[in-house]
Amino acid sequence: MATSPLSLVLLSVFLSLSLHAQAQAPAAPAPAPSGPVNFTAVLVKGGQFVTFISLLNKTQTFNQIENQINSSSEGMTIFAPTDNAFSNLKSGALNGLSQQQQVQLLQYHMLPKFYSLSNLLLVSNPVPTQASGQEGVWGLNFTGQSNQVNVSTGLVEVQVNNALRQDFPLAVYPVDKVLLPEELFGAKPPSASPPAPATKGSSSGKSNSSDTAAEPSPGKNSAGGRNVALGLIFGLGFVSVGILS
Ligand SMILES: *[C@@H]1O[C@H](CO)[C@@H](O)[C@H](O)[C@H]1NC(C)=O
Ligand SMILES: *[C@@H]1O[C@H](CO)[C@@H](O)[C@H](O)[C@H]1NC(C)=O
Ligand SMILES: *[C@@H]1O[C@H](CO)[C@@H](O)[C@H](O)[C@H]1NC(C)=O
Ligand SMILES: *[C@@H]1O[C@H](CO)[C@@H](O)[C@H](O)[C@H]1NC(C)=O
Ligand SMILES: *[C@@H]1O[C@H](CO)[C@@H](O)[C@H](O)[C@H]1NC(C)=O
Ligand SMILES: *[C@@H]1O[C@H](CO)[C@@H](O)[C@H](O)[C@H]1NC(C)=O
Repeated sequence: MATSPLSLVLLSVFLSLSLHAQAQAPAAPAPAPSGPVNFTAVLVKGGQFVTFISLLNKTQTFNQIENQINSSSEGMTIFAPTDNAFSNLKSGALNGLSQQQQVQLLQYHMLPKFYSLSNLLLVSNPVPTQASGQEGVWGLNFTGQSNQVNVSTGLVEVQVNNALRQDFPLAVYPVDKVLLPEELFGAKPPSASPPAPATKGSSSGKSNSSDTAAEPSPGKNSAGGRNVALGLIFGLGFVSVGILS
C-alpha cells in the first residue's frame, strides 16, 4: 500500500514525540558509565570463578557481555557460580550440552537490567534472563526478605547474600550453585508413544488369523443375546400392560 498522507502525519507526530521523550530521558537517570566496565577484572578479582571465566571465554560470551554492559542503558545483573558450584555438578552435566546450550546456560545467569540486592526483592516473578528468546522466557524467581534473597530456577534454589560489585551498570553476585534451567535440565516431556496400542499390535501379530477372527464373534453373540433378552422384557411389558388395562 502506498504511504497515505495520514500515516505520514502520524509518523511525524510519533517521531516528534519520541524525540521529545529522548531529549527528556537523560535528565532523569544518572548519566551512565564513566568508562567501560571490565567484567573480566571483576571476576578475576573475586578469585573463585576460574571455571565460569573459562566457560565465558570458551563460548565467546565475554565480548557480547562487555559490549552489552557498555552500551545498554538498563545495565546488567550477573550471577556468578563459584568454582565450588561447578565442581558440585554431576559429572558430564556440562559436557552433555552443545556449544549453543552452554551459551544458553551462561546467559541464564544474566539479567538484562541492573538490580541492586534490595531491588531483587521487588521484581515480579519470573524475571526473564538473557537466555530468553525464540524458545520462550527462561525466567528466574526471586524471593526473600530484608537483605536475604533466594533465586530459584525450579530445579535449584540458592541464596544471594553478597555482591562482588553493585554499581550501575553492572551488578555481580556470587552463587554457590550453578543455576540449572528447567529448559535444559528438567525432566524430558514423556515420549508420545502410548504403550497400549503397541502391545495390542504385537499380540495380534503373534496370534494367528483364526484367533483374531474368533475373538469378535463371542462379542457379537452376547450382544445378540442381550437384544433377545430386551425384546422379551419389552414384550412381557406390553403383555402385562395389556393384562392390567
Ligand atoms: C580487563 O581485565 C582483565 C583481567 O584483569 C585484563 O586482562 C584485561 O586487559 C582488562 N581489559 C581491559 C579492556 O582493560
Ligand atoms: C581465552 O581463550 C583464549 C583462546 O581461545 C586463550 O588464549 C585465553 O588465555 C583465554 N583467556 C582466559 C581468561 O581464559
Ligand atoms: C565501550 O564504549 C566505549 C565508548 O562508548 C568504547 O570506546 C569501547 O570500545 C567500548 N568497549 C567495549 C568492550 O565495547
Ligand atoms: C515463578 O514465579 C511464578 C509467579 O509467581 C510462578 O508462576 C512460577 O511457578 C514460579 N516458578 C518457579 C520455578 O518457582
Ligand atoms: C532460601 O533457600 C534455602 C536453600 O538454599 C532455603 O533453606 C531457605 O529456606 C530459602 N529461604 C527463603 C526465604 O525462601
Ligand atoms: C492358529 O491357532 C490354532 C489354535 O488356536 C492352532 O492350532 C494353529 O496351529 C495356529 N496357527 C498358526 C499359524 O500359528
